[in-house]
Amino acid sequence: MSKLTLDPVIRAEQPEDFPTIRAVNLAVFPTPFEADLVDRLRQRAQPTVSQVAVVDDTIVGHIFFSPVHISKRDDLKVMGLAPTAVLPAYQRQGIGSALVRSGLAVCQALGYGAVVVLGHPSYYPRFGFVPTARTGLRCVYDVPVEAFMMLELQPGYLQDVQGIVTYHPAFDDV
Ligand SMILES: CC(C)(COP(=O)(O)OP(=O)(O)OC[C@H]1O[C@@H](n2cnc3c(N)ncnc32)[C@H](O)[C@@H]1OP(=O)(O)O)[C@@H](O)C(=O)NCCC(=O)NCCS
Repeated sequence: MSKLTLDPVIRAEQPEDFPTIRAVNLAVFPTPFEADLVDRLRQRAQPTVSQVAVVDDTIVGHIFFSPVHISKRDDLKVMGLAPTAVLPAYQRQGIGSALVRSGLAVCQALGYGAVVVLGHPSYYPRFGFVPTARTGLRCVYDVPVEAFMMLELQPGYLQDVQGIVTYHPAFDDV
């Protein structure tokens, strides 16, 4: 587990943060896709969880969650984590971890039973994510099986659940 060397404040985004959040995602990712995605999801998905990490009154990191759908299981409340971004100068100091943990707690408080993520297989397991390859869940996108992971916020929530996980249609806009 990474050591927390900075002491970020993690809080929910406010409307006045939107331009800075966009700038953080533009700075971190090679293309504007993630920055645009956050803007689209904020308008079109419901509910969303969007949190920022603040150090010395500056937003240095951001995390976003939006609901996903599991085929034939409209009853399940599952969030998709995407994206996570920490400005390069602030990486490897525990800020990403603080954002993930805080975001998961908010999703849990909203009554969500699980979270899926399409991400680095060496990063997310530290929070309890496990590859969905061990489960009956599959990502709608053609991705390496080890990169698609899930974490139960309620024990057993996805036990024996099978199906295709689809993201909000905003993910398919280019
Ligand atoms: C991934 C990211 C959010 C992590 O934020 P962070 O503040 O550096 O994370 P933490 O300090 O909490 O954790 C650092 C750990 O993450 C690991 N890590 C960072 N980037 C990683 C990557 N691309 N793949 C795998 N592990 C990564 C580091 O090796 C470090 O591991 P260690 O604790 O074993 O040394 C940040 O590196 C980032 O914004 N990267 C670019 C954007 C990105 O790839 N986002 C995630 C999309 S799934």
